Amino acid sequence: MHATRLTAGLSKTGIFAELRQQLEGLVRGERDALPNCANAAALIYHSLPDVNWAGFYFLRHGELVLGPFQGNAACMRIELGKGVCGTAAERRDTVVVADVHAFPGHIACDAASRSEIVIPLIQSERLLGVLDIDSPLPDRFDHEDARGLEAMVGVLLKDSDFGGLAIP
Ligand code: SME
Repeated sequence: MHATRLTAGLSKTGIFAELRQQLEGLVRGERDALPNCANAAALIYHSLPDVNWAGFYFLRHGELVLGPFQGNAACMRIELGKGVCGTAAERRDTVVVADVHAFPGHIACDAASRSEIVIPLIQSERLLGVLDIDSPLPDRFDHEDARGLEAMVGVLLKDSDFGGLAIP
């Protein structure tokens, strides 16, 4: 439906400004977090260069459960505190891993992944899940990616209802 395209030659800041705008357009008028997260995963996966997996895990009954994503089939359940996703969820903070092979407890879902960024989803101090993005390149994600992706998560958290997805 929406073929997302970015203006050529943008800086990283410019890319995230456009992506955020596109995501705002996609979620406008839709409060259900399920389609909004599905479209966010597609937007990120198809727009950001050097990304081999982008998607969500939702906190359900105390563990992270696989949600909408783009990329290869992935592990379905992750304990809090385990892997990069569980670590970011437990810390309630973005985690950037330059070399997944050097991260103790990294959960290898796609052997091609070399670096990873995970952003927690927190709404009114409640942990709802995480956004996870993998790259086949080492050291793919920096502070600008972290801030840009946190802003995109902010768009999702602002008006989307995660009630049926995240279950305390
Ligand atoms: N690598 C993640 C697991 C999820 S996959 O990358 C999709 C982790 O260590 O938590």
